[in-house]
Amino acid sequence: MPKSNEKVTLKIDEDLNQEEIQEISEDQIYTKSPQNLPISKRQEVIKINDFNFYYNRTKQALKNINMNIKQNTVVAFIGPSGCGKSTLIRSINRMNDLVNNIYLEGQIEVNNIKIYEKGVDVVNLRTNVGMVFQKANPFPISIYDNVAFGPRNQGVKDKAALNQIVEDSLKKAALWDDVKDYLRDSALSLSGGQQQRLCIARAIAMKPKILLMDEPTSALDPIATLKVEELILKLKKEFTIVIVTHSMAQATRVSDYTAFFLNGELIEYDKTKKIFTNPKNKKTEDYISGRFG
Ligand SMILES: Nc1ncnc2c1ncn2[C@@H]1O[C@H](COP(=O)(O)OP(=O)(O)OP(=O)(O)O)[C@@H](O)[C@H]1O
Ligand SMILES: [Mg+2]
Repeated sequence: MPKSNEKVTLKIDEDLNQEEIQEISEDQIYTKSPQNLPISKRQEVIKINDFNFYYNRTKQALKNINMNIKQNTVVAFIGPSGCGKSTLIRSINRMNDLVNNIYLEGQIEVNNIKIYEKGVDVVNLRTNVGMVFQKANPFPISIYDNVAFGPRNQGVKDKAALNQIVEDSLKKAALWDDVKDYLRDSALSLSGGQQQRLCIARAIAMKPKILLMDEPTSALDPIATLKVEELILKLKKEFTIVIVTHSMAQATRVSDYTAFFLNGELIEYDKTKKIFTNPKNKKTEDYISGRFG
């Protein structure tokens, strides 16, 4: 191991910024946050192994899915309607538990915890793995109370602490400037795009490690969509993000890796650049070039 003051060359984010090479000391490598490590050196925070999922016990929605997701990356799930994207993303924080008669095989690990083992604390899992849905679903209470809802439930009572969490979360969700003078107004008074960012703030307030987003911009206009996309790029410094999208352009703009699904199968999973410029599988190529789906 080199001495702490010895210089080593570390390629930053080799997958994204091919050119960017920085000189930093070995010490810094280990104390810096994971997003400054090349993607190849980051931990795998989600591991999906031989995962099969059935609705009504017999209807197979996911077939033998194997994929790992690295810390502080954005992974896009793409594929035609009904291919299983929502089923898989909802399996990562056990949202599917709420559906009757499901059956599953295989494993999903989040931060090295097998989440389908007996005794797993599902509430804690969902705190660590936040979710943002297709349709913004703010509670019909004030903007402030929406964001404070989770922390209050977790027992945070101190007013100053709550104020801080609300402000930090709204800032991270790029909504603070829009709403700071209207925190007591109903969340339902916000526009659709603002409501979606409020839902992101509400998820962030729980201090999750992972954010799951199922078509978070499909109900938004292009400007609100771009705001959420900018936000995703900012948030990946702090969170690992999985996003389902029907927009190829969105997948290329926000994600580091893309997974293409078809009929419940994972057809191809690779760097986004590779998937969209030189996919290995003919089915991927057909889909991204709009030949089906
Ligand atoms: N609650 C449910 N009960 C029974 N079958 C379901 C249920 N939810 C989804 N399915 C079925 O599972 C398959 C995968 O559905 P899923 O919602 O995961 O697809 P998707 O890729 O998210 O599609 P979309 O792009 O339209 O949102 C589909 O055949 C769907 O009909
Ligand atoms: Mg879906």
